Amino acid sequence: MNLAGGKGGVGTSTITANMAYALGQAGAGFGNIGVLDLAYGANSTLSKLLGVPPLRSNGFWNYITAKYYPYQDSSPDITPALTQQIALIPSGTIEAHRIDWALSYILSKMNNDPDKVGWALYNDLAELIINKLARYMPSLVLIDVPSTIFKPLAWAVLMMARVVNVIVKAGSTHQDEAMEVLELVSAVINQRAQMGVPTPDVFLIVNQALPGDNTANELKSRGAPMRGTYVLPYSPAVHYITDYMKDLAIKYDVPQDKFFRQWRETILAIARNEYEVARQAPKVARIPFKRP
Ligand SMILES: Nc1ncnc2c1ncn2[C@@H]1O[C@H](COP(=O)(O)OP(=O)(O)OP(=O)(O)O)[C@@H](O)[C@H]1O
Ligand SMILES: [Mg+2]
Repeated sequence: MNLAGGKGGVGTSTITANMAYALGQAGAGFGNIGVLDLAYGANSTLSKLLGVPPLRSNGFWNYITAKYYPYQDSSPDITPALTQQIALIPSGTIEAHRIDWALSYILSKMNNDPDKVGWALYNDLAELIINKLARYMPSLVLIDVPSTIFKPLAWAVLMMARVVNVIVKAGSTHQDEAMEVLELVSAVINQRAQMGVPTPDVFLIVNQALPGDNTANELKSRGAPMRGTYVLPYSPAVHYITDYMKDLAIKYDVPQDKFFRQWRETILAIARNEYEVARQAPKVARIPFKRP
């Protein structure tokens, strides 16, 4: 899972989309890759970069609202979008404000018990992956967890992830927010350990770093739990290709941007290393699908 540490725009979706492409392009040798976009409404950069315009195709939030929320289409057809060897479940056609209404409705239906909602969403995520993605036999499923996420949903993903990437924006202004997210990650890891469930490996990805950036060391000295750290430089070409061309930067080579090659190589390293880490991690599938 790629989890945003801090406020929006740290680059989670850009990283997830490019990782998916690095692993899922025909001939890469990693088999099929599943991708799940948990973004809210129109803010679905990941789906967009993988070729599905926001709010056009049914996806995750259609599945959730159909299940619990009587004001929404009750039997949406959720068919993953396929490009190369990537099977994507986009965020869906539900606008952000409707998602908010639906979530408060779901919460009230579950006696305002956030634990109950968390476990329900855990089951829903597992169901969605099994019913909609498993048929493509993905060797890996990447989940993009944006900063705006409903926290019981972030918890549900943290309960099942084998590899957690906490993505933070370089610079001291974002460190406190990053620590907040890292504390949530530690809390869920402890909970998993207490339940006897294998714990995930946590990596820190510092994104949009300028030369000499020290964010990774500073977070480490503040006690951030992590198995490894990656630093992605700020690259004007990445920005341009993502925002103006609405495309995957990894497809390109931009020699005139001296940070681009470093960005590209780091994305490839993250994708390949973490594929191995995820493959070797013990299975998590034994978590009871019910609140204990
Ligand atoms: N390494 C980078 N260099 C330059 N620009 C970058 C880099 N990574 C991301 N960006 C830019 O940062 C912006 C935000 O990226 P993105 O949408 O991936 O963030 P996000 O964390 O998914 O945001 P949200 O929390 O809103 O979902 C985009 O304009 C993207 O082009
Ligand atoms: Mg995003």
